[in-house]
Order: sequence, then C-alpha cells, then structure tokens
Amino acid sequence: MPRGLFITFEGGEGAGKSTQVRLLAEALRGIGREVVVTREPGGSPGAEAVRHVLLSGAAEPFGPAMEALLFAAARSDHVETLIRPAVTRGAVVLCDRFLDSSRVYQGGGDLAPDFMTALERVAVNGMVPDLTIILDIDPREGMRRAAERRGEETPDRFEKETLSVHEARRRAFLEIARAEPERCLVFDASQSRDALAAEIAEAVWPRLSPATDTADAGPHDAAERG
Ligand code: TYD
Repeated sequence: MPRGLFITFEGGEGAGKSTQVRLLAEALRGIGREVVVTREPGGSPGAEAVRHVLLSGAAEPFGPAMEALLFAAARSDHVETLIRPAVTRGAVVLCDRFLDSSRVYQGGGDLAPDFMTALERVAVNGMVPDLTIILDIDPREGMRRAAERRGEETPDRFEKETLSVHEARRRAFLEIARAEPERCLVFDASQSRDALAAEIAEAVWPRLSPATDTADAGPHDAAERG
C-alpha cells in the first residue's frame, strides 16, 4: 500500500488556513486522491472532547503545563485514531494546526523546553508532517479578519491576547520555518485567496510522488495543475 502524505497548515489568527485547506482538498480530490481534512485541537472523538475544555478557557486557571498536557493528549488521540491510519492507507491528510501551534502558543511561555520536547515526542510519536504550510500575515490584518469572521462572538482563549503576543507568535512560526526548511514553507497570506491557493498547489504537487498517486492522477495532471 503506498504511503499517503501528511500536510499541516499553521499560522496566526485570521491567516485563512481553513479556507486554504478546503481549496487544496478540492484540488486534490479533483485528481482522484483520497483526502482527509482535519483540525486541531480536535479531529477525533477523544480530541474533540478535550477541544472545548481548551478553547473555552476552562483549563486556563490550572496553568500552562495543564494546557500543554491537554493539547498533547488530544494530539496523541488524533494521531493514533485518525491521522496515522489515513496516511498508512494512502490518503492525503490536511490538518489545520498541529505540533507547531503547540511550540508557538504553549512553548512561548515559561514551560521548560525539555518538557515541551517530551510532550511533543509522545503526542506525535513519529508522525511528523511531510510538509508544513505556514501562512504568514501581519497580526493587525489577521486580527481584523478574525474579528470580522467572529462577528458578535467573543474571542476564544487564544485569540484574546494582545497585538504584541500575536507578533511574537508570528516571529516564532517564521523561526520554526528557518530551522526546518525541508519541512516548512512560508506563504504570504495577505495576497488574494486564489493566488495563495495556486502557490500552495504548486508546492504540494511535486510532493505527490507517482508512487503515491492513484491510477488516474499521474504526474501529467500534476504538471497541468501546477
Ligand atoms: P480554532 O478556532 O480552532 O482555530 P484557528 O484559530 O486556527 O482558526 O482555535 C484553535 C486555537 O487553539 C488557536 O487560537 C490556537 C490554539 N492552539 C494552541 O494554543 N496550541 C495547539 O497546539 C493548537 C493545535 C492550537
């Protein structure tokens, strides 16, 4: 059975990750690939149960270590029940946020780097993304977009931070991309939705090696799409 592909999308609030996940999923399905779209925190029944605890802020009073452990618990369940089985059977998995969000959001605080590394090792358990797409945007614009999308709803536990916190997160994502250029690609998320989708498709297509392509999705289609 050919191995699939595991692609994660990362970036600050309002960068357009979920829209780009959807557009890439449509394009991949168009060439006959099985695509699994998922997100974190959540993505599997066990992880979705933890999602509400995290995003409502219910875990916040118990401190950052508790939150980091809960993100890791949710990720472990998600990896073992959804992501790994899908990739193993040859699907392309598109995940809206994954380990880099924990590095940036939880790792940005006072938690010891060793603690974060240990949690990551247990949660990811070797399921490192083949490609991580980092959508980079000025946090002012990102927050404006996020507020527009939210309407009257109050910001969640992680959206509510100040501009300087969002700026630090942006720098942290860019630092990860610099440290792991093989895995991470940075895209300018201020451009139009369709221009960005085209750039992302161009980066993804060469990674769909013929060995993982289904019968009607050869390199020929990939070249045309790119
Ligand atoms: P959500 O509303 O799902 O998405 P988004 O902001 O991507 O549109 O919110 C998820 C929030 O959880 C987001 O603010 C980032 C945060 N988060 C972490 O702090 N650590 C993590 O490991 C993950 C996956 C998310």
